[in-house]
Amino acid sequence: MVKRQGTVEKLAMKPNFWQGRRVFITGHTGFKGSWMSLWLQKLGAELTGYALPPPAGPSLFNEASVAEHMTSCQGDVRDANALTVSIQAASPEIVFHMAAQSLVRVSYQNPLETYATNVMGTVNLLEAVRATPSVKAVVIVTTDKCYENREWVWGYRENDPMGGYDPYSSSKACAELVSSAYRSSFFNVQDYDSHGVGIASARAGNVIGGGDWAEDRLIPDILAAFEKNKTALIRNPGAVRPWQHVLEPVRGYMLLAERMFCEGPFYADSWNFGPNAEDIRPVSWIAENMAKLWGGCAQWDIDPSEHPHEAVSLKLDISKARDSLQWQPRLELRDALKLVVEWSRKRQSGVDVRALTEQQISNYQELDQQ
Ligand SMILES: NC(=O)c1ccc[n+]([C@@H]2O[C@H](COP(=O)([O-])OP(=O)(O)OC[C@H]3O[C@@H](n4cnc5c(N)ncnc54)[C@H](O)[C@@H]3O)[C@@H](O)[C@H]2O)c1
Repeated sequence: MVKRQGTVEKLAMKPNFWQGRRVFITGHTGFKGSWMSLWLQKLGAELTGYALPPPAGPSLFNEASVAEHMTSCQGDVRDANALTVSIQAASPEIVFHMAAQSLVRVSYQNPLETYATNVMGTVNLLEAVRATPSVKAVVIVTTDKCYENREWVWGYRENDPMGGYDPYSSSKACAELVSSAYRSSFFNVQDYDSHGVGIASARAGNVIGGGDWAEDRLIPDILAAFEKNKTALIRNPGAVRPWQHVLEPVRGYMLLAERMFCEGPFYADSWNFGPNAEDIRPVSWIAENMAKLWGGCAQWDIDPSEHPHEAVSLKLDISKARDSLQWQPRLELRDALKLVVEWSRKRQSGVDVRALTEQQISNYQELDQQ
């Protein structure tokens, strides 16, 4: 890691930084990508997205008309040529790579597609960056699941070994190794003055927020049951995860890109973004609190059916982001759950989804500027 020069006093995100900034984001039709696109649009970024269309059924992308204030390209990250053409046409200064087959269960059903998208998709993205001289900063989004899980009580640190029991986790660990190899071979921090590109990777915990309808994710499953007045069936109530509102890591990705862009190689590294230690909670705690917040006769029970292997304990150590990026969580988990329930209730009542989501972004941004 390159040493940071001098003292940096205040590192809160600078909203003006994004005004007119050319940004390319893969996976903008997904859950995180939609939240991030709306935020970047609000800050005035000149935004281009590249992704597959959202899956059939409700999506934040469609409901919030995310495509309206950006250039939205439909494309596959496995198609190296199309991806390169799209990035070159956008001539971005900053690239966020979020496109992925993002579900553990789907990765058991379709490992080939998972590796092709998550590993070769990352290679294709970095090759496209090599061929696009305008790019100065790249954030590759992986996951907390990229670490070799030892089922221990401590949080994983950025220098812990990569691993992955299931194809999703292992594909994301591979994406980390790819990013690291490209950084060493083509964008080495020691040669930053000659190439001027920073490549960072970001490992976030389990994110929650309004507008997630992905299959086999805890919050969408709970909300789907509560909305139908059914008991939510929970697969692994004892599993411990680092939960956080989607805006928390999204702010981390943006801050990281901004810092790389402004200050160069020090930040071109891997970073964990997760909650404070007290918000690393078991699934049962989430289910219980969601039921309380939803009210009425909302309840949950254990799903007795067979499930594929999932880690029991997964914690992240966020000391590095806290110390060197001055990023830290702004929301307690209880407040994050309240935001999710509020978002779902208001959507159910027919409010404009884009305005609702933008309001939550504005409120959150104010917290960051305090
Ligand atoms: N949601 C979480 O809890 C969580 C936690 C940690 C990390 N992540 C990571 O964050 C990123 C975004 O996650 P998400 O929750 O928004 O996922 P998501 O499944 O909602 O969205 C995935 C996005 O990737 C796109 N995509 C998938 N395959 C593609 C392909 N072959 N070519 C082009 N685009 C493709 C989809 O169209 C969509 O835009 C992913 O990299 C995911 O692994 C998510």
